[in-house]
Amino acid sequence: MRSLSVNLDHIATLREVRKTFYPSITTAYSICELAGADGITVHLRGDRRHIQNQDVKILRTISLLPLTLEMAPTQEMLNIAKEIKPDKVTLVPERPIELTTEGGLDLTQNVDHLKKVIDTLKESKIRVCLFLEPDLKAIEKAKTLEVDAVEIHTGKYSLYFNEKKWDLFEEELIKIQESVVLGKSLGLVMNVGHGLHYQNIKPIANISDIHEFSIGHSIVSYAVFVGLEKAIREMLNLIKT
Ligand code: PXP
Repeated sequence: MRSLSVNLDHIATLREVRKTFYPSITTAYSICELAGADGITVHLRGDRRHIQNQDVKILRTISLLPLTLEMAPTQEMLNIAKEIKPDKVTLVPERPIELTTEGGLDLTQNVDHLKKVIDTLKESKIRVCLFLEPDLKAIEKAKTLEVDAVEIHTGKYSLYFNEKKWDLFEEELIKIQESVVLGKSLGLVMNVGHGLHYQNIKPIANISDIHEFSIGHSIVSYAVFVGLEKAIREMLNLIKT
C-alpha cells in the first residue's frame, strides 16, 4: 500500500516569518486528515526556522494519522523524540546555512554514533528511517544498521527536472528505481521525498515498490492558488459589507 505523508513545515514557515498565530498547524492537520492523507511529517530543525517543539507536541496529542519527525541525529533531538514519541523518526543530515535538506546521510562517517541513536529510538518503540541518496552501498549499509525504512532523497531528481537536464534526470530516476528494488529485497520499507511536485511526481509514482511519498513544499505552494480566490473574496466581504 502506498501512502502520502504531508510535510507541514511550510505552514509553520508562513507563521514564523511574522511570528504570529496563523496559519494554524492544527487546522492544517485537520485538513490533511479530511483530505485523506495517510500521515503527517514535520522537520524540527536545530535553528527552529519553521516547526517549533510545541508544534510537535500538539501534533502528537491530536494526530490520529501516523506522525513522522524528521530530525538530525543530535542528542538534543534524541531527547525530544524520546519524550514526544512520534510514530517514526527520519534521520537527516542538517547544515545550519542550507535552505533545505541538501542530501542524504553519509553512512561512511560517524556510524557508531548513528547506530546508538537508531538503537535508542528503537528502544523507545519509534520506527527509524534513514534519509539516503539513491546509492546501493548506502542501502546495504542501512540494512546492517537494522533500521525499519529508508527514504530516498529525490532532491537531485527534482533539480534535474526543474533545470531540464534530461540525461541526468533519467540517470537519477534509474538510481532511485534500483535503490528501491534493492531496499525492498532486503526487507526495508522504501520511501521517497524531497522536491517532488505535481509535474515530476509521475515517473516516481510509477515505481511500484515505494511505500511512502513525503511531500510538503509543492502541496503548500499549490494550496495558495487553490485557495487564493476564496481568501480574497472573504476579505472583500469583510471590508465592503
Ligand atoms: N523528506 C525529507 C527528509 C525532507 O527533509 C523534506 C523537506 O523537509 C521532505 C521530505 C519534503 O520535501 P518537500 O518540502 O520538498 O516536499
